[in-house]
Amino acid sequence: MEELAINGGPRAAEPLEVPEWPQLNDASKRYVEESLESGDWCRNSGGEFCDRLEEEFAVYHDAAHAIAVANGTVAIELALRACGVQPGDEVIVPSYSFIASASAVPAVGGVPRFVDIDVETYNIDLDHLEEVITDRTVGIVGVHFGGYPMDMDRLTDIVEDNDLFLIEDAAHAQGSEWRGEKVGTFGDFGTFSFQESKSLPSGEGGIVVTDDDVLADRARLMHNIGRRQGATGYYHYHLASNRRLSELQAALALGQLEKLDAENEARERNERVLLDELESIDGIHTKPRDNRVTARGYCVENFRYDAEAFDGLSREQFIQALNAEGVPVGEGYEMPLYRQPAFYRNEVARFLPADAEIPDYPNLHLPGVEEICRTNVAYSHRMLLADEAGIRSVADAIRKVQAKASELLSD
Ligand SMILES: Cc1ncc(COP(=O)(O)O)c(C=O)c1O
Repeated sequence: MEELAINGGPRAAEPLEVPEWPQLNDASKRYVEESLESGDWCRNSGGEFCDRLEEEFAVYHDAAHAIAVANGTVAIELALRACGVQPGDEVIVPSYSFIASASAVPAVGGVPRFVDIDVETYNIDLDHLEEVITDRTVGIVGVHFGGYPMDMDRLTDIVEDNDLFLIEDAAHAQGSEWRGEKVGTFGDFGTFSFQESKSLPSGEGGIVVTDDDVLADRARLMHNIGRRQGATGYYHYHLASNRRLSELQAALALGQLEKLDAENEARERNERVLLDELESIDGIHTKPRDNRVTARGYCVENFRYDAEAFDGLSREQFIQALNAEGVPVGEGYEMPLYRQPAFYRNEVARFLPADAEIPDYPNLHLPGVEEICRTNVAYSHRMLLADEAGIRSVADAIRKVQAKASELLSD
């Protein structure tokens, strides 16, 4: 076997060409130009692209309503507000995600309660979910992490049995399906992000979907500083912020939506090839294949690394060696969300009523998420848009590092 690339040898993943992201397509270009030329750059001055995006997104999800917003963070905040979270109410959040999945809760006056993560799926651990429900719990924000759907059979039962609301944070899951239905449509709200790294990007942007007419009406008012959409005059029915999406970004997202399914199909084909390879490598733990997941959306992809199967090579060294071989992987989120400095008591307290019971976040220990933070290896959905030979070379690179791990240890 050739020398490791980190020691000056040839790169095992030479065939891997990871496409640039985001990718401008003709439809996005045309819609943005149309929006620019219309002179209606704000939906409140008669622009059509927020309306069109909402219609197309709702149809795509078979949802009754979609409301375009400025980003995926305010999408969650809007959904929480529309669900009626009151100061001091507890909302259960995942301990492994981008911080917005949890920080949206104190942003609306609620107390986040972290639940552990299932190491197999990277989603909320449903075996431990009910343990964190208290008499102050009003709802759950669950993330379809990396586009891999949460088990909606079990989760919707738990939500119903405990009379909670459910917000599905589907920022990673544009196009994912559970038993033939798009994720984001099982709970009271589904929330999405169009931030540039996501698989449906518009730079910044987001959207919420719901089937509930009352929640939709409330969310629509609250996304538009409490004002009725399309109404003239200055009547404001809620004290609410401006969370509207700009017309230009809606035009961009609308164009990107046209290529989402074809890209997801290509990613899914490549993921199958990669899983076939990775599942045969000792020490690489991939997510389970579940035939209730009928379509996959993608964002960050993950597998767990077991150093023992690599002669004790640390994850950091493994990642460095793979990077040198030409495979762009990283560690992903460094810590459970409850360890983030933003969750120090004094910081959270600023957002909550004086008598709110704030959990001792920095001293929380949840074994699943901590194992993930120690062992996770992450790569972007972009990699799954490479060609098949490139995808196979990822596994070749891992095998090469495994075969030669001891050489790195002696350095
Ligand atoms: C799971 C998750 N939720 C919410 C967000 C927030 O989205 P945005 O960056 O559009 O505010 C992100 C962004 O990375 C995310 O990964």
